[in-house]
Amino acid sequence: MKLYFYLATKNKNKLEEIRYIIGDEIEVLPVPDYIEFPEETGLTLEENAYLKCEYLSRYIKDSYIVGEDSGLFVEKLNGLPGVSSAIFSGSRNDKKNIEKLLEMMKNIKEKKERKAKFVTIACLIGKGEKKFFKGEIEGIITFQPRGNNGFGYDPIFEIPEIGKTFAELTFEEKNKISHRKKAFQQLKYYLINKLK
Ligand code: IMP
Repeated sequence: MKLYFYLATKNKNKLEEIRYIIGDEIEVLPVPDYIEFPEETGLTLEENAYLKCEYLSRYIKDSYIVGEDSGLFVEKLNGLPGVSSAIFSGSRNDKKNIEKLLEMMKNIKEKKERKAKFVTIACLIGKGEKKFFKGEIEGIITFQPRGNNGFGYDPIFEIPEIGKTFAELTFEEKNKISHRKKAFQQLKYYLINKLK
């Protein structure tokens, strides 16, 4: 039977990105429709990634489950929005989150002072496993949103080597270099090697 895991998220963008990153060797199953995850209460990405897994494991037995938590960490803001990236403006609204972040950074005029990183933690549980995988990518927060692709903070996160924001890259381009790619590539090879 084909190797598979359940992905503990209701975020369709993440599911699509992770399916693309994982490829054909492992099937990435969505959570059943009736599952509603509770609010994230963890203080770290690791805690939240694990909490998503743990919640889903109450419903799904004898299978691998993967929880994912990500965030944007801005150097000059001591790591904000960080673990609270999704609800930074007080609600799950990408546009408002971006507006709030740009407003907080409006006095930081130098590009080199606008460093940030995206971090993803993937947590794998099930069949006696509890393992974490981390991926990071460094970038610069732009002064204005640019591009229409992706989700979340993609329009204001520029990759300096390319000179484009994540939202200006194609789906394939983003998912070849992203924080999520780096975390999930490790998870993929871990699972594949384990079964050899
Ligand atoms: P969570 O992992 O569902 O708690 O949400 C993390 C939040 O971080 C998302 O709602 C986005 O706002 C942001 N985020 C995480 N990954 C990305 C990404 O790849 N691009 C843009 N924003 C992201």
